[in-house]
Amino acid sequence: MSSEEIPLARPLLGEAEEQAVLAVLRSGRLSLGPLLGEFEQRFAARLGAPHASAVSSGTTGLHLALRAVGVSDGDEVITSPFSFVASANVIVYERARPVFVDIDPRTLTIDPEAVGAAVGPRTAALLPVHIFGWPADIAALERLQLPIVEDACEALGAVHPDGVAVGARGHPTVFAFYANKQLTTGEGGMVTLSDPSHKLRIDSERNQGRAPDMDWLDHDRLGFNYRLSEIACALGLAQLGRLDDMLAARARVAAAYSDALASIEGLELPCPDSGGNVRGWFVYTVSLPRGSDRDATIRALRERGVQSKPYLPAIHLMSYYRETFGHRPGEFPVCEDVAARSLALPFYPQMGEGEVERVAQALAAALGRP
Ligand SMILES: Cc1ncc(COP(=O)(O)O)c(C=O)c1O
Repeated sequence: MSSEEIPLARPLLGEAEEQAVLAVLRSGRLSLGPLLGEFEQRFAARLGAPHASAVSSGTTGLHLALRAVGVSDGDEVITSPFSFVASANVIVYERARPVFVDIDPRTLTIDPEAVGAAVGPRTAALLPVHIFGWPADIAALERLQLPIVEDACEALGAVHPDGVAVGARGHPTVFAFYANKQLTTGEGGMVTLSDPSHKLRIDSERNQGRAPDMDWLDHDRLGFNYRLSEIACALGLAQLGRLDDMLAARARVAAAYSDALASIEGLELPCPDSGGNVRGWFVYTVSLPRGSDRDATIRALRERGVQSKPYLPAIHLMSYYRETFGHRPGEFPVCEDVAARSLALPFYPQMGEGEVERVAQALAAALGRP
């Protein structure tokens, strides 16, 4: 058995990426070149979405998508407290208020009934999160007839029960390409969408508010620098070509984990695909048995050469959100319970069954259930 430390994540890059990046360097076009449009078109086609706009990160994509659907000062946006903090931060960027609702204990995505109950006169949009790659119930949210921005930063490869890919239902949907994601450009993001006027606005606002037919001396709206470089687009295109293999490899590692961990009493595993929902595997996160000491478990795993981390903390209990919006423990009990017990285990497509087995044995031992 190898004693090398097993990391949480490890990008899978190869010859195709090296060649693609070298070609960009040799071309001399490092930004706003031909690969931007090519990456957007191939990404949209892959998902079955009419359009896509590449941006500098998932966060910047979410920010521009919210602006595109009209969220502004004083509005409310209903979202999940069980997410990476960016999905709430972008609402605050626009001086709107994130209205959190609790999550479903099985899927960990927002509960559509709770969303319906939270809708009020100031609700301007819904921001569901496809957390851990599980497709949130967008069909149920559509019945509320409000603008939707989907956070699919963790969900490339996920499919809704009707067979439509996450990102292809027409609402602006945001993917992220940070180093641990299914497809990575180091930093980067993509918004898929169907409304051409939203695409025009996002393309302009990512480029300092410049309209496509204007020269750089004039800008007709406020914008940002949220552009994605040609090097990043080259990395993305190279991986898009073998996305099926990369997603299948992640699903294989997840299945190996689910087998290896099934016998640990009290441990809760990610819910398996059901009802036509297909998860786009991003992380492998478990909920530790009730009563176990998570910090001690992390230490014990580290001693056995296995990295792990709590993932995710509840957003409403982070100090900025407590102090700014007055949140207190007890508001969203399902989210708080999951957040207190969740633990991300090492997960990357090239992980071997031996490594999965080593993590499973280390976790069983750390929990005192060998
Ligand atoms: C659910 C979720 N939303 C938003 C983001 C933000 O993406 P980025 O880090 O590319 O800005 C992430 C990234 O980790 C995420 O997991």
